[in-house]
Amino acid sequence: SPVSIFGAPTDVGAGSRGSRMGPEALRVAGLVEALAARGVDVVDRGNVEGPRNPWLPPRGGYRHLDEVVAWNRAVLEASTRELEAGRMPILLGGDHCLAVGSIAAVAAHCRKHGKQLRILWLDAHTDFNTHDITPSGNVHGMPVACLCGIGPQALTALGGHVPEIEPAQIRQIGIRSVDQEEKRLVKQHALDIYDMRYIDEVGMKRVMEEALEGVDERTHLHVSFDVDVLDPSIAPGTGTKVPGGINYREAQLIMEMIADSGCMGSLDIVEVNPVLDHGNATAELAVDLVESLFGKSTLMRD
Ligand code: ARG
Ligand code: MN
Ligand code: MN
Ligand code: MN
Repeated sequence: SPVSIFGAPTDVGAGSRGSRMGPEALRVAGLVEALAARGVDVVDRGNVEGPRNPWLPPRGGYRHLDEVVAWNRAVLEASTRELEAGRMPILLGGDHCLAVGSIAAVAAHCRKHGKQLRILWLDAHTDFNTHDITPSGNVHGMPVACLCGIGPQALTALGGHVPEIEPAQIRQIGIRSVDQEEKRLVKQHALDIYDMRYIDEVGMKRVMEEALEGVDERTHLHVSFDVDVLDPSIAPGTGTKVPGGINYREAQLIMEMIADSGCMGSLDIVEVNPVLDHGNATAELAVDLVESLFGKSTLMRD
């Protein structure tokens, strides 16, 4: 299907500044040109707008909640517009708090059109914190909980349907950093987590087969790609680096297997922080991986 790219240049949900520059870094790395070269009908809609990052300490367990809500509203609107026009939205973050808006839009779209929603959450983190257990107050550590109906009303009810998703609709891959109380919460809600130990033990091929089980032509697959899922040695340009991440070949296999499913309907590329990068290596790697997501085969099978 045709693709629309839009940026949300903010780091209002993050603990370090710089992912506001993610959309430009991805454009400079040639994202639009790479998709066009694959024959994708792609339009760059430019950026959505929102408030500046006030850079304040947490209040009531949240940093910048009002600003986070405003940015997510803008993302929800932009994503909804593209989905309704029959186009695949690609959100360029920005930090991962923006997945509340992008996924709320997709969830509403799926309810309206009778599609099954499956979310692949590629991340070092489960992002399942709440205001009373967060170690940081950073809302990019909370979007999955918000989408599952746990969080401030302004975010859980952003799209008007609480909860937007059930934990059973999400698969989290690459996980290796979960806060102490967050662990309890993900267990309580039975999140389907493919952590690094599981990936090491059974291999990425089987992980992806399991994560994609049940995906068929009725499925809208949403891919939420937090670049910190990648090992910091290959993706240094991100704010919450955790050692022991997925390597280049594993990342390619994830993308290739998603492409083979033929079911991807929307994508987030988040947490690219050029301020922390070596050159523009992380955005360039993300573009390389997105090419595979759109069917480019490293073995030239096509
Ligand atoms: N668990 C930590 C926190 O809540 C880190 C979250 C990082 N999230 C992200 N999307 N990079 O503060
Ligand atoms: Mn994340
Ligand atoms: Mn992360
Ligand atoms: Mn659709």
